[in-house]
Amino acid sequence: MAFPKDFLWGGATAANQYEGGYAEGGKGLAVADLITDGTKDQPRRIFYRMPDGTEGTIGQGECIPVGAVGILKEGYYYPSHVATDFYHHYKEDIALFAEIGFKVLRLSISWTRIFPNGDDEEPNEAGLQFYDDVIDELRKHNIEPLVTILHFDMPVNLATKYGGWINRKLIDFYLRYAKTVFTRYKDKVKYWVTVNEINVLGGYWTLGLSSNNRKEKESSNQGETPMADAGIKLQALHHLMVASSLANKAAREINPNFQMGAMLALSGIYPATCHPDDVFGAYEFRRKALMFSDVLFRGSYPNYAQSIFDEYGFTLKTERGDEEILRQYPSDFLAFSYYRTTVYDRFSPHTTTTGGQQGAPNPYLKTTPWGWPIDPDGLRFVLNELYDRYQKPLFIVENGMGNQDVVNPDGTIDDDYRIDYLRGHVLAIKKAIEIDHVPVMGYTPWGCIDIVSAGTGEMSKRYGMIYVDMDDKGHGTLKRSRKKSFYWYQKVISSNGEEV
Ligand code: BG6
Repeated sequence: MAFPKDFLWGGATAANQYEGGYAEGGKGLAVADLITDGTKDQPRRIFYRMPDGTEGTIGQGECIPVGAVGILKEGYYYPSHVATDFYHHYKEDIALFAEIGFKVLRLSISWTRIFPNGDDEEPNEAGLQFYDDVIDELRKHNIEPLVTILHFDMPVNLATKYGGWINRKLIDFYLRYAKTVFTRYKDKVKYWVTVNEINVLGGYWTLGLSSNNRKEKESSNQGETPMADAGIKLQALHHLMVASSLANKAAREINPNFQMGAMLALSGIYPATCHPDDVFGAYEFRRKALMFSDVLFRGSYPNYAQSIFDEYGFTLKTERGDEEILRQYPSDFLAFSYYRTTVYDRFSPHTTTTGGQQGAPNPYLKTTPWGWPIDPDGLRFVLNELYDRYQKPLFIVENGMGNQDVVNPDGTIDDDYRIDYLRGHVLAIKKAIEIDHVPVMGYTPWGCIDIVSAGTGEMSKRYGMIYVDMDDKGHGTLKRSRKKSFYWYQKVISSNGEEV
């Protein structure tokens, strides 16, 4: 049998895309609550107001102008507000996950449910109680929670008052939040992820950053980022990595049995040709992602980090003790998302978005309707690449295909395309375990129940094995239905990956 007996089969979600109840139970406002819907062609937007009352918008990955405050604007649709309403449906949903046979559910805690303003002295008891109820429900069904502390989540107040993660005070606020949830759930949660996809974060949405740079452009995270903003981002991410390491330290003090994961978007990269510039270009592009796991596992910035900083004309500012912290408290396992591979072509632009790094198309691969190449073999490659580099247990905490689903007149949903996608990836993991001897802890396909797309804000970009009746503008009954993939995955889990 390829998969170990205790392999953690399950699914993955995030609060800002799934939970809803955005203003219930004392929850404060997060930047994710200020992002409008969008489409493949119409990017999501955030409205802001300047101190003189003028208003404007930024794209999802951009910094907000200095002094501006993100606002909710009437007449626009904000998908996070209801999302697919886990807040009111958690019992029903967890029962469905149990019916599939989940051993684990990846979910994130919403920072503003616990600390509504981010800098509050005391946590919000109603928020803590909500996750107590959710975790107890999971445990009742023998489902292990895998908790992400920060998944594309930024309290608006921390962005407005402190400028987001560029300010080192955020390290303390994050730690207060992390320690609060570690302590509260110390006997109920074993697996934690400190930060989701640290290598794709940027701008106001995920880091609360502001800037007035509108000059030279570097492509990153859902759009164009001015070069100087790339520097601000790297500085903010340094603070976040220090915070993540300190969270590892605090976690081990609270419960030495906790397993702490660092999480990156690590969809793979191929060179477009064997031209040495494509090959080395692909290698350098990959390093822009691996730099973060190098820090979080090897405990210091790698030598090549300086060349990345030089590219952006950036000088890292560290404080005494930072180096020590990064070195002393590395993560235990590497959690990563894998959706697709991409091609590095020396003549094409390349970016980083949800799902990871992106470059030129690959003529050998089919794509999803959203243009993401489908490449199960690439997952085997990445599993080998990562284990060769770190020798740490690997956890695939996101994988899947976004697709439009059609509900048949009798209510069934035949999502064979999704089954094919997932089957290919399960078989690739199997090869990596069986043939390459890579230790893999588990597999949690993304959006195991339909949730809002982070990149486009659409509901129609569905990943789930459970359908939720809700459209791109929030119309629908929220009724849950089992798709064909639900039954397929049920068999995969009950046979521990033998019947695929
Ligand atoms: C990952 C994120 O980057 O990709 C998720 O961690 C996101 O939050 C997922 O939903 C899929 O991307 P999208 O844009 O299709 O929702």
